[in-house]
Amino acid sequence: MENDRDKAPFMFGKIASGPDFTNREKETTQLLQNFHVGINTILISPRRWGKSSLVKKVTEHQLNKNKNIRYCFIDLFNIRTEQEFYEAYVKELILVTSTKWEERIGQAKKLFKKIIPQFTFGVNPENEFSVGLDWKEIKKAPEEILNLAETICKAKKIKLVVCIDEFQNISFFDDPLAFQKKLRAHWQHHKLTSYCLYGSKRHMLMELFSSPSKPFYKFGDVMYLEKIKEQYWISFIKKRFRETGKNIASEQAAHIAQAMENHPYFVQQLSQQVWLLTYKECTNKIIDRALQNLLEHSTILYQRETDNLSNTQLNLLKALCENVKQLSSAETIQHYKLGTSANVIRSKEALENKEIIDSIGGIEFIDPLYKTWLKRVYFKI
Ligand SMILES: Nc1ncnc2c1ncn2[C@@H]1O[C@H](COP(=O)(O)OP(=O)(O)OP(=O)(O)O)[C@@H](O)[C@H]1O
Ligand SMILES: [Mg+2]
Repeated sequence: MENDRDKAPFMFGKIASGPDFTNREKETTQLLQNFHVGINTILISPRRWGKSSLVKKVTEHQLNKNKNIRYCFIDLFNIRTEQEFYEAYVKELILVTSTKWEERIGQAKKLFKKIIPQFTFGVNPENEFSVGLDWKEIKKAPEEILNLAETICKAKKIKLVVCIDEFQNISFFDDPLAFQKKLRAHWQHHKLTSYCLYGSKRHMLMELFSSPSKPFYKFGDVMYLEKIKEQYWISFIKKRFRETGKNIASEQAAHIAQAMENHPYFVQQLSQQVWLLTYKECTNKIIDRALQNLLEHSTILYQRETDNLSNTQLNLLKALCENVKQLSSAETIQHYKLGTSANVIRSKEALENKEIIDSIGGIEFIDPLYKTWLKRVYFKI
């Protein structure tokens, strides 16, 4: 069994690439086009729908094809201050545009006039190094950093695509609005550099990029990533089973995708459980057992999440679990004990802030497994 486990042909929680990656042809074409023409892109979706995987796939595909375009990745997941951002930004830009450490230092000397970056090298100086910047110097000449990508492009006669993941984390900076104004003021003049900004706080990112009062309004092409459609999951799941000597019928593969509402992360997770329980031929019973395993595994987490909800929030979730559409109607409010229509709005907002539901384009659970847990284990619907 341990041997099987090693070979499980489904993965989740990491970037999906190679054979783990499926579909996304339309989005791939659009991203590629934007990168080539130099159009800024903003990619938005709820958590774990595949943003990072998509950007990685497109850039990797391009890497060998067009050496003139370089891709620089900055992940803000562990960045909480503007200074940390600049340090990571300078480091990655230098890393992707020069190869030897001597060259990196030489390049930095040429590129910076007012700011003096401090380099620290690790045991393996080609890959391990960090950049330290003096905050006072940054404040005096932020343009040296904000224009750095474009300066490098001109000096090296290349094009750069700067990809910034978890972009919503800039809201943790001391003055996010002033920071955005600074970025926009400089980045909008760049001709050789384009930016691909992506993240999962849908509300916040939409506000940043679609609100006329915000600095990033009309900064680029806003793409809303969708889930992967059932038909693609069916062929993906069947193929992965077939390749590993097991069999699953279309109907059952569809059943997996439907149970997880086509959510990329959860479809992969359930598929893996099903695969592990399948000896040769998948059955409906196996799928049910696999789902049960996942629910049991998540119970502590979901119990804790549920303990933190108010009664109205819970009642609202129950209505959602029963597919009620008119949440604010007098009948729904009375039946589910929701108080007043103002309460419904407040609870909905609270559930959105807790990242339990997403209400853009119809309300849905962000975590389809939690919905199933609430239905089966908690509400016993
Ligand atoms: N194109 C794809 N084909 C198959 N599985 C995918 C695909 N894209 C994403 N997944 C599945 O979804 C999981 C999450 O993908 P990824 O980390 O790219 O999403 P994300 O939107 O960047 O997530 P987060 O919001 O947490 O940053 C992957 O580990 C994989 O299981
Ligand atoms: Mg991601």
